[in-house]
Amino acid sequence: MSNVRNNIFRLETPDIEIAPAIREGYETLINGTGAGAEMRGWMNWPAQYLKSEEYARLKETAKKIIEEFKHTIVIGIGGSYLGAKSIIDAKLGTNFNEIYDVPGRSKVHFVASLSSKEWRNIGAIIGNDPFCIIYISKSGTTLEPGLALRYFYELHKTVHGAEPTVFAITDREHGTGRKLTNDHGWESFVIPDNIGGRYSVFTPVGLLPIAVAGIDTDILLKAAAEASELFMSTIDNPAVHYANWRYHQYINGYSVEFMNVNNPELRSFAEWWKQLFGESEGKSGQGLCPNSAVFSMDLHSLGQYLQQGLRKLVCETFFTWDDSIRITFPKSSLEDGLDYLAGRKLTEVNHAAMKGSFTAHSSIGDEPNPCCNIFCPAGIGSIAYAKQTFEYACAISSYAIEVNPFDQPGVEDYKNEVKQILFRNSANNS
Ligand code: PA5
Repeated sequence: MSNVRNNIFRLETPDIEIAPAIREGYETLINGTGAGAEMRGWMNWPAQYLKSEEYARLKETAKKIIEEFKHTIVIGIGGSYLGAKSIIDAKLGTNFNEIYDVPGRSKVHFVASLSSKEWRNIGAIIGNDPFCIIYISKSGTTLEPGLALRYFYELHKTVHGAEPTVFAITDREHGTGRKLTNDHGWESFVIPDNIGGRYSVFTPVGLLPIAVAGIDTDILLKAAAEASELFMSTIDNPAVHYANWRYHQYINGYSVEFMNVNNPELRSFAEWWKQLFGESEGKSGQGLCPNSAVFSMDLHSLGQYLQQGLRKLVCETFFTWDDSIRITFPKSSLEDGLDYLAGRKLTEVNHAAMKGSFTAHSSIGDEPNPCCNIFCPAGIGSIAYAKQTFEYACAISSYAIEVNPFDQPGVEDYKNEVKQILFRNSANNS
């Protein structure tokens, strides 16, 4: 078992020599010699952005939003959504909006769907309270956020008799989003041309909603910068070892990788990871198919399949984050057979569920699944470090299987098809 440890991230994988393709993938990424090399802006970004004037303005803007608006509607999809959502959920828990009074933060409502109920309910939750909109789209042409912007913009006019305050996060100069922003004079922040959606969590795309939720973004940028510094200086780093482990499974015939997280507040972290690897690697008939499970809940459903279903299909990454909240089991007059846990912590049980399932999935049965273990200590910095690790690992492993990590031609096809259907229908209706 090889351990790649530092104070904010621990990766445990079986000892596997670094494959020549992974070595080449690492060099291709670091030296910028591969397809899409011009989209590697995210690698140096965290350290640079920490010192920038725009970042200082972003933090001031977040403070003003918190003071003025009880609610913030964040509109975006894919890479313009999952980074922020995953950090906010991890830090605050998925049900934090239900806490009645939340000092020091605006309640952040994400709109990333075409769900009539979800849109209606967000409107109903906000009611007559003041709200602002953060509109995030690099291109400005994506249908889902475009429609949501129009809907909530008009809803604000109906409820408050005035246009809403909109903050736009879009490209610097070319896109439709930039034109809309300039035409309306909205305060805006830039998604750099050299950073694609799924690599944009540490740009304003992720940082503004996260700061509005009252989370210290300096911690995130510093952890991501620390990760980058290490990854760019040596091949002996967790991103390479993780990429190597999953590459090894792929060439040995495994088709699916499960990311098993230890808490429901990491569900969207796993969604973010799925998007990152799915959109980056899944092309030219290649790539491990990323999937996810939330433990211990899914141990009572999918866990059975993972352990005894089709063999040589799934490899698993167990991702355990110490959530830092310590709930102690009380003594109780209930005669429930759980006295042996009185005085002990819920976190201990949570971690035992991860360790027990890791052992069961990786060593019981004729053909157990290949498994690796990632452990992140408490604090949101370790989640940021993990994100930067996965971004590097993803780019390296994409290059190892000779695909461009930074484009998404399939998604573009889907976007075009939907537009054609809607145009056809409107022509038929007129
Ligand atoms: O990773 C990506 O590039 C995509 O998932 C995009 O983020 C997503 O399609 C949204 O695009 P846009 O920000 O242009 O609205």
